[in-house]
Amino acid sequence: MEKSLEQIASLCKRRGFIFPSSEIYGGLNGFWDYGPMGSELKRNIRDAWWHFMVQWRDDVVGLDATIIMNPRIWEASGHVGGFADPMVDCKDCKKRHRADQLCEEQGLKLVQDGKGWKLPEGCKCTACGSKNLTEPRSFNLMFKTYVGPVEDDSSVAYLRPETAQAIFAQFLNIVPTSRKAVPFGVAQSGKSFRNEINPRNYTFRSREFEQMELEFFIRPDEAVELLCGHVATLADGPDLSGEPQDDWGWEVWHKYWVEQRLKWYRLAGLPQEDLHLYWQTKEELAHYARACVDIEYAFPFGVQELEGIAARSDFDLTQHQKHSGKSMEVMDDRLRLACATKSPEEKDAFRAKVVADWTARGKDPAAANAFVDGLFAGRYVPHVIEPSAGTDRLALALLCNAYDEEKLVDSKGKEDIRYVLRFSPALAPVKVAVLPLVKNKPELREKARDLYKKLQRKWKCAWDETGAIGRRYRRQDEIGTPFCVTVDFDTMGEGDDPALKDTVTLRFRDSMEQVRIPISELVAKIDAAIEL
Ligand code: GAP
Repeated sequence: MEKSLEQIASLCKRRGFIFPSSEIYGGLNGFWDYGPMGSELKRNIRDAWWHFMVQWRDDVVGLDATIIMNPRIWEASGHVGGFADPMVDCKDCKKRHRADQLCEEQGLKLVQDGKGWKLPEGCKCTACGSKNLTEPRSFNLMFKTYVGPVEDDSSVAYLRPETAQAIFAQFLNIVPTSRKAVPFGVAQSGKSFRNEINPRNYTFRSREFEQMELEFFIRPDEAVELLCGHVATLADGPDLSGEPQDDWGWEVWHKYWVEQRLKWYRLAGLPQEDLHLYWQTKEELAHYARACVDIEYAFPFGVQELEGIAARSDFDLTQHQKHSGKSMEVMDDRLRLACATKSPEEKDAFRAKVVADWTARGKDPAAANAFVDGLFAGRYVPHVIEPSAGTDRLALALLCNAYDEEKLVDSKGKEDIRYVLRFSPALAPVKVAVLPLVKNKPELREKARDLYKKLQRKWKCAWDETGAIGRRYRRQDEIGTPFCVTVDFDTMGEGDDPALKDTVTLRFRDSMEQVRIPISELVAKIDAAIEL
């Protein structure tokens, strides 16, 4: 079925998933609110991410940092100097564009040289067709504010454009308190803000959004070599589905996290065939990045990024070390002990190799020597692999994937369309709806109500007693509730078959199949189906 963003947005509005922010005042471009169903969906996404990335692992801990931080963090990270998009204005219709997107829409490529950005020949305004465009100018995406009552340069602060930097800035507090040793990771989810030039595609590119980020700290390859005598690369064909191994170099760790994240997206219900990997080319990589892969999803408006997984070397911690004056080195006891057993000849050969390698890459030999001294003493600045996902983008992908219109024909040949959101049960906003068949029979209603109250302690449940049962099922289909439980006369022991006392009808959203099961078996049956 062809799905359009308009159909999906219309259902999202109708059923309380997503509303334009401040709608009664005309909204605000790039800002969206999540309604009763959307807020449940987002919470389930966050929880599922946390379970997979933190709770089920021994080697990842969490952080919940502030949105506004010391602005020096953003100087060190490079965001103040370089977190900018190229912007152009049409001098005729005054429409403002992001220059790279404007070019892309016309099959052109924005030119970047030493002096900055340049529009290619033939580029025109997509709104009015005019070629009368300004030169691209750099526009910093960080939202600025002031901390305290005085609005001057000394009180400027920024709303964070990513959650990641707080993890680096708190690294020295996390290491001793978590009692974790490299390799280990720190995860954080929360709001980020970017003053996007051109928010678009519904919630896909917003100005306020949520991220779920992991900074996974690993040994530099040189430390792995000293510890294990070799460094495993992808060419060695490591088993990425099992436990991580000591001899993994950065390349293997990077691929491991790509595989882990793909596994998680599949668990979340996105089909393998709609997930794509885009490996950035050497030219596209940031200067500090060794590799970066985007996990993309086939949205109705095209294949677009859900998550980026970057191998960022030791860039971030080294930057914060330089700017804060605080050492970001860790003490690796296993490395120190391994080095203590090496002979002077082995150490000399290792040093010569590292210095030659660094020099060949244009680095300072003195820095290489200092690095090797540190390694022999068990010290280094960890490198990092960063899987960075967008909560809102995943919510949108799940909505697009779940949306379905099913043509039904009833027994009298009448055609009807069933709108259904086929969420995976683990992420569905409401897990179970409890429906008393009739509402004017107090004992039956009370029995249903008792069951509802019991189930509600375990999962988000819905109670619906208005309208025909078929219509109530359809309402639940539209919000993606995987299970409906109907309490009827049989449940009360008042039907034709007294053996059906204390049983209910369990109806499955996707197949619309209905089975009769004892109330005592309900929780176990639903639990098994809801597990991630
Ligand atoms: N720390 C790395 C980082 O922030 P990014 O590729 O800029 O990397 C990571 O962002 C993820 O955050 C993206 O893959 C996307 O899912 C989400 N994201 C980024 N900008 C967004 C926006 N304007 N609206 C919604 N989600 C966004």
